[in-house]
Amino acid sequence: MKRGMADLGTSLGAYRLSSPLIAACGTVGSVVDFAAVGRLDSYGAAVAKSVSGEPWPGRPAPRLAATGAGMLNGIGIQNPGVDAWAAEVGPRLAGMPTDVWGSAVGKDAAEFARVAETLARAGVAAIEVNLSCPNLESGRMFALDAAASGEVVAAVRAVTNLPVGAKLTPNSEDITTIADAVAQAGADWVVLGNTVWGAGFDIETRKPLLSGVVGGYSGKPIKPISLRCVWEVTQNIPGMPVVGLGGVTSAEDVVEYLLAGAAAVGVGSAHFANPRIGARILRDLSRYLRRQQIGAVSDLIGAVEPW
Ligand SMILES: Cc1cc2nc3c(=O)[nH]c(=O)nc-3n(C[C@H](O)[C@H](O)[C@H](O)COP(=O)(O)O)c2cc1C
Repeated sequence: MKRGMADLGTSLGAYRLSSPLIAACGTVGSVVDFAAVGRLDSYGAAVAKSVSGEPWPGRPAPRLAATGAGMLNGIGIQNPGVDAWAAEVGPRLAGMPTDVWGSAVGKDAAEFARVAETLARAGVAAIEVNLSCPNLESGRMFALDAAASGEVVAAVRAVTNLPVGAKLTPNSEDITTIADAVAQAGADWVVLGNTVWGAGFDIETRKPLLSGVVGGYSGKPIKPISLRCVWEVTQNIPGMPVVGLGGVTSAEDVVEYLLAGAAAVGVGSAHFANPRIGARILRDLSRYLRRQQIGAVSDLIGAVEPW
């Protein structure tokens, strides 16, 4: 470390990260392909697109739409299935300049566990359990149901010694109850959060902006919603590490999440406008720390001043 430079390292429980920035799932492809266009060395970790046990075809076009503020997506978690993923991406993981996390989805706990086990064998550094997908049994998102979320995390916990993060949804009625359930089931941290349900319509064609009509809303406008989730969880479950995620486009946004209690902060939709944005955010974060005479980024975690 250069003299006068702030320490940018942080940790999620026992898991150390060299940067507080995380490249968010679904916005950096399989990570290995993103390496050529992005600045992976800016991130403490990068999360590969979610994968399931069998290939999922995804939804028909249109699946992405700009909405003026933020964006809508209804990809339907298109992916080649974990076996094809492991064969293609696995051998390239070791050459990446940052840790690559695998993101698991499934229709039941057993599928999540099989995916997690295969991702672990392929060489990922941690497992992110994406609970924002439909449960085969109820048709509802796992992340809306504390018992179902806990069951999935416990099943994943049972098949790997890797760190396990649980990615929750801001659409849940009571985020603290869900976070508590996954903590009890053995999650090492929670990721808060995923996209917010949204929709949009084209007034000329009168068609929905997404083929599935309702999709995930992301980008700048959702930041206060995710910040609220981070705040609620860190206030109510002290000691549970949180990755804050939603609407980050600048170092200022990152600092806000750290103050709210996040130990690391994800960058998602911002990659579509600028794949190299991580480098700028990290540079500006260093400048902020220097200007404020803060020695370590971790000093900001939960360092909000009360009224
Ligand atoms: C096009 C697109 C695809 C995404 N795919 C996934 C996914 O496969 N798994 C997942 O956990 N999150 C996925 N996300 C959600 C992001 O990781 C992130 O939680 C969300 O976009 C909020 O962050 P942002 O406002 O910085 O984009 C996706 C987001 C976008 C925009």
